[in-house]
Amino acid sequence: MPPRAELPLGVFDSGLGGLTVVGALGRVLPRERFLYLGDTARVPYGTRSAETIVRYSRGCARVLVERGIKALIIACNTASAVSVEMLRAELDLPVLGVIEPGAQAAARAAEQNAEQHGVLAKIGVLGTQGTIASGAYPRAVSQISSRLEVVGQPAPLLVPLVEEGWTEGEVPRLAVRRYLTPLIEAGAGVIVLGCTHYPLLRGLIEQEAAALAGRRVPVVDSAHATAAQVEDWIEQGRIEAAPPGEAALLNELLVTDLPASFEAVAGRFLDGTLPPVTQIDLTSG
Ligand code: DGL
Repeated sequence: MPPRAELPLGVFDSGLGGLTVVGALGRVLPRERFLYLGDTARVPYGTRSAETIVRYSRGCARVLVERGIKALIIACNTASAVSVEMLRAELDLPVLGVIEPGAQAAARAAEQNAEQHGVLAKIGVLGTQGTIASGAYPRAVSQISSRLEVVGQPAPLLVPLVEEGWTEGEVPRLAVRRYLTPLIEAGAGVIVLGCTHYPLLRGLIEQEAAALAGRRVPVVDSAHATAAQVEDWIEQGRIEAAPPGEAALLNELLVTDLPASFEAVAGRFLDGTLPPVTQIDLTSG
């Protein structure tokens, strides 16, 4: 195996949505290489039980660790919500999920908002059923500040809409409005995009949240917050930096089913040239 610094950062997701996290990582870490696994045979994770998601996450992590990675990034919010602590305890490398960085960015946005408007607004989280049911975002925010309140809203129609490429127009607009309404009515003044797919709906979410609230509502993207956290870990030496030189963003892309459909849709989630997609078997996971 090459020296640790030269190993890629391992990223896994239930499918292709995690490529939004790879895109955010690539923008701040152009020297790093990435090994991505999308568990397309078992997507979606968002509607499954915590026990099942933990089992799937363990299987994904095992494959990446066996291939050689220097840190593991759980790009899937649903998987991060239930398995980050378990994987941290089990693996001998840095493990980061998207929820803690997302919660930190949301807490900062809520505090800034309070300075500007004089009121400490609640943090509204949009996510899958699994992420919202896990209570992971309220837990992560409560570890940052006891002043901040979190309200969650499952938004199950948004993942299929994004996968169909319906990110503009009346159908996604109505769905976004429907999911944001209870959050804004409950007093949310910051919205967290708590799912890999929602960055593709960011424009609509910003517009609808502003229309419902009657003023601009800051929208926090957990993918960006995670990339910034990985950058910090590299600067602190917690993850070894890649040697000088620019790497191709993704050096390997693995999926567990339908590589051709993955290739066809991946461009919506990540700009640039993708490496060939390899299908692997995770049935023992
Ligand atoms: N990747 C999932 C997440 O971020 C969304 C898709 C799914 O339900 O598997 O929560």
